[in-house]
Amino acid sequence: MDQFIFHNPTKLIFGKGQLENLKTEVQQYGQRVLLVYGGGSIKRTGLYDQVKQLLNEIGAEVNELPGVEPNPRLSTVKKGIEICAEKEIQFLLAVGGGSVIDCTKAIAVGAKFDGDPWQFITRKKPVHDALPFGTVLTLAATGSEMNPNSVITNWDTHEKYGWSCAYSYPAFSILDPTFTFSVPKNQTIYGMVDMMAHVFEHYFHPTEHTPLQDRLCESILQTVIETAPKMVEDLENYDLRETILYCGTMALNGMVSMGFAGDWASHNLEHAVSAVYDIPHGGGLAIVFPNWMKHNLDVNVGRFKQMAERVFHVDAQGKSDREVALEGIEALRTFWTSIGAPSRLADYDIDDSQLDLLADRAMARGVFGNFKKLHRDDVLDIYRSSL
Ligand code: NZQ
Ligand code: ZN
Repeated sequence: MDQFIFHNPTKLIFGKGQLENLKTEVQQYGQRVLLVYGGGSIKRTGLYDQVKQLLNEIGAEVNELPGVEPNPRLSTVKKGIEICAEKEIQFLLAVGGGSVIDCTKAIAVGAKFDGDPWQFITRKKPVHDALPFGTVLTLAATGSEMNPNSVITNWDTHEKYGWSCAYSYPAFSILDPTFTFSVPKNQTIYGMVDMMAHVFEHYFHPTEHTPLQDRLCESILQTVIETAPKMVEDLENYDLRETILYCGTMALNGMVSMGFAGDWASHNLEHAVSAVYDIPHGGGLAIVFPNWMKHNLDVNVGRFKQMAERVFHVDAQGKSDREVALEGIEALRTFWTSIGAPSRLADYDIDDSQLDLLADRAMARGVFGNFKKLHRDDVLDIYRSSL
């Protein structure tokens, strides 16, 4: 293991009926609130009315930023920062999925930042402060509810970057599984792929001796694998939604990844695709990740073999390590296909016409990946095998 300091300040408020806690939580931060949400799902489900009612009960002065896009855009972040200045906002409340939360993080930091927000999103200028914010999560996927990460797209330049800082942890996050009942089947599938991909990003790291972390990662993967096929057939099942919601948070809140740095190349590859084509993040990962695995199989065959045996129960008898490892990757592909995830870029009508642009976007910050550094040739190879 590497040395580490672990600190996660987000208060996690989990379970049915927990929305009531919103009042005491928000009251700690001030009266002038900016409510941030997406394209309208919270209005259709009635959650918007519930949140507004609770905020009214504490006499909060509520301003709103609706319309945060899936793959949230810099232009929306800027709109939110303007409202914060104009209305002297004291607290931000994100109600939605990862996109709404990520956008809120950028607004919270941007409201206290001297300069264009793109400067801290591209990590060109450090961050020193932020407005406090909380979240009510409606979609299990990103872990954004309990981590400092945010991913923002500059649609003018087709660039999509992840960033984080010490000030971008939510103060609290309320997770009620019933708020995820209405997530459509496709988004439910993308979310489950995304949380598994987060675990894989941890799992394929170059650090020796991480036995507990390996087992923690494998347990999340096995739980999602066990739950997902039932979930896609029974979208309003409380127990299944609860399990998946908890898996999503645990996959990317730092609990299973202490003492090493994960790879994160597949996320970079996917972000380049969704920056150019605006496809769902989890869909892109389902396509790219198994191809990243095949490309890097020989970096550490033992690690892929371990995944194959422990997560997918591949029988190793009479087979070489490499054969077992490959079978594990195929098992992952088969599993994702079985729950309805896409497997080829062609599933989103993406052909080879923009491969160079995709590679430019992926390489924008130079070589990347911790398990194996990817260069332009590697990137093109993985994209080609994903067509
Ligand atoms: O906009 P609304 O109307 O709310 O609809 C959303 C959106 O269309 C809908 N939805 C959300 N909750 C719902 C619901 N529909 C019905 N019922 C509900 N309860 O689902 C659609 C997708 O929402 P979005 O927030 O975009 O999905 P997700 O949570 O998967 O977030 C994806 C974004 O997060 C970034 C991705 O790159 C992408 O931009 N990521 C953020 C990470 C982080 N902050 O740690 C890590 C991830 O790896 C990821 O990169
Ligand atoms: Zn992700």
